[in-house]
Amino acid sequence: MIELVNINKVYRKGNKNDVHALKDVSLNIEEGELVALVGVSGSGKSTLLHILGCLDDYDSGEYYFKGRNITKLGSKQIARIRNEEIGFVLQSFGLILGNTVYNNIALPLLLSNKTKVSEIELKIDEILKKLGIYQKKKNLVESLSGGQQQRVAIARAIINNPLLILADEPTGHLDRSTSKDMMDIFHDLNKNEGATILIATHDPFIYEQCHRIIRIDDGRIQ
Ligand SMILES: Nc1ncnc2c1ncn2[C@@H]1O[C@H](COP(=O)(O)OP(=O)(O)O)[C@@H](O)[C@H]1O
Ligand SMILES: [Mg+2]
Repeated sequence: MIELVNINKVYRKGNKNDVHALKDVSLNIEEGELVALVGVSGSGKSTLLHILGCLDDYDSGEYYFKGRNITKLGSKQIARIRNEEIGFVLQSFGLILGNTVYNNIALPLLLSNKTKVSEIELKIDEILKKLGIYQKKKNLVESLSGGQQQRVAIARAIINNPLLILADEPTGHLDRSTSKDMMDIFHDLNKNEGATILIATHDPFIYEQCHRIIRIDDGRIQ
């Protein structure tokens, strides 16, 4: 599903302050895997996830997604892949404040324009029930607890049935019981929907449940 070959990423802040965040990163992830990306804070986890999610670019190397060379695609094609084939759970949730739970989750469906308006509400209701936040459907996202906002972020990431789900420290703000519910959701998507999942985390509770652990240290895969 994913092949990275010698990816390098430098955040440029003027010569002496450049940050070489990813150093010759090469890795493969097979379809159907549930993988943890583990490393201390600042090791490059978010940078790597953003590149995999086509949210950020890189300085050198190749990224193949389902056999397609992302490096060679145009921005429209990349935007389509990002919106329709990849679900991203951001570290800071990235919810749109001032909007309801329903509107936040509807956004990817409206953007991809493939689901009939009459089906959108059914689909969202189903996912809200599954995640236990149906009663919050019409509430503004900022009125929800951290754990509930996390569920909205997950709902939005999976509403388009993505092939690949990328989650950046998804349990960072959650208590153990909510973390367990969230892992149950990821296991269900992995086993029953065939989703490939990569979770950046330093929480042993999470990485011990994954099929494989990829370790990153100072921008290098160990
Ligand atoms: N937008 C940015 N501009 C400059 N440096 C950045 C930026 N984002 C991340 N970095 C730096 O890149 C390195 C890797 O960061 P990051 O990928 O966020 O690590 P992690 O997610 O593992 O904590 C760190 O040294 C961080 O300070
Ligand atoms: Mg991070």
